[in-house]
Amino acid sequence: MVTAGRSAPPAVAGFTITRVNPVEHADAIKRLFLDHERPEFPDYFDRAFPDAVAEGGTSWVGWDEHGRLCAHIAQFPRAFALGGRTLQGALLANLMVATAHRKFWPALRLVRRLVDDVKASGSVDLIYADPNELAQPVLRAAGFQPIGALQRFVIPLTDLRRGVAVAIRLYHLIRRSRTMPLAAIDGVPEDAASAIEPGQANGARSLQPVRRASLYRARLAGYPSASDRWYRFHTRDRDAALVGKALVRHHGRDGPAAVCVVQCEPMTLLSSLLVALARRVRDTGATRLEIWVMLQSQAANAVRRAGFLPRPERIPLLALPLTRFGKQATAAGCEWQLLPIDVDR
Ligand SMILES: CC(C)(COP(=O)(O)OP(=O)(O)OC[C@H]1O[C@@H](n2cnc3c(N)ncnc32)[C@H](O)[C@@H]1OP(=O)(O)O)[C@@H](O)C(=O)NCCC(=O)NCCS
Repeated sequence: MVTAGRSAPPAVAGFTITRVNPVEHADAIKRLFLDHERPEFPDYFDRAFPDAVAEGGTSWVGWDEHGRLCAHIAQFPRAFALGGRTLQGALLANLMVATAHRKFWPALRLVRRLVDDVKASGSVDLIYADPNELAQPVLRAAGFQPIGALQRFVIPLTDLRRGVAVAIRLYHLIRRSRTMPLAAIDGVPEDAASAIEPGQANGARSLQPVRRASLYRARLAGYPSASDRWYRFHTRDRDAALVGKALVRHHGRDGPAAVCVVQCEPMTLLSSLLVALARRVRDTGATRLEIWVMLQSQAANAVRRAGFLPRPERIPLLALPLTRFGKQATAAGCEWQLLPIDVDR
């Protein structure tokens, strides 16, 4: 795809762009999203934006000739560990252009302005995004390249039909026999579960998010709620070494539970961790457990080994490196250990 020329045809220049502190324009930004069928946005804004701004997040907005706010895009700082160093990323979030201005070029100018300003700051190694089908042509025209996709996987845990439930148990038993037994401790407070720092064990070519508690509050409505449970995983030997953690959001009895956060050091134990986790979650009465991981990655292989079945849903990811370190992270062979909680969808 050829990136589009810098200058938009004069007729569609569109709106005036300014960089702002979104919290100072909260009402106008919320109005834009409410006017375009996004009723959930104001609550999300109140959960996510104040923390994001405190951590360096900013927005770019478009003003029409009447001074009305008619376009928005934000960047949220996201740190990653890569080869023992910290990579500074920026997640593109909440791109919205008012219908009257949806002529491609205005949206492209907005994205390009963000890229230029972030590049000029000199503090960001790469910008990444999970654009939907409408936003992908705009980001591709701004120079973003595909770096892979998140794919959804599901494992059945039990079933109301006795025969099916027995078959599922057998399926899990076979999976368990092929993995290393780990001890799963559940219900630990979040801070205790954050004892695992991204380590070297996963190699210099594995990009690992460094997550803060503000991320969970922003991305999980009502977090920490009674439906959220953290788990820690230890080896069963005398050392009882801590090898992993996971956050699961339960959707009531007989409903699917979702793995929101999982981290494992070394990654070679991920399938063992997921087998132990599935067993604990089954005991809570959940019927299925779902997880999203990067397509064709070590994590995807481990998820399959643990018995999870691939589903068709995918979230494509695009990125734009701004530094040599950023290029290292987007180079072929670099594994991104991203989960849906690390993107904007
Ligand atoms: C995403 C969004 C900002 C894209 O803006 P946009 O490209 O201006 O809007 P559209 O996708 O509607 O496309 C507008 C026009 O540009 C045209 N277009 C697309 N690519 C083009 C290109 N490379 N060159 C010229 N025109 C192009 C399209 O054909 C379309 O015209 P048409 O509807 O008459 O066919 C806008 O669709 C939006 O705000 N959507 C709602 C929120 C949203 O989905 N945000 C993204 C979240 S990830």
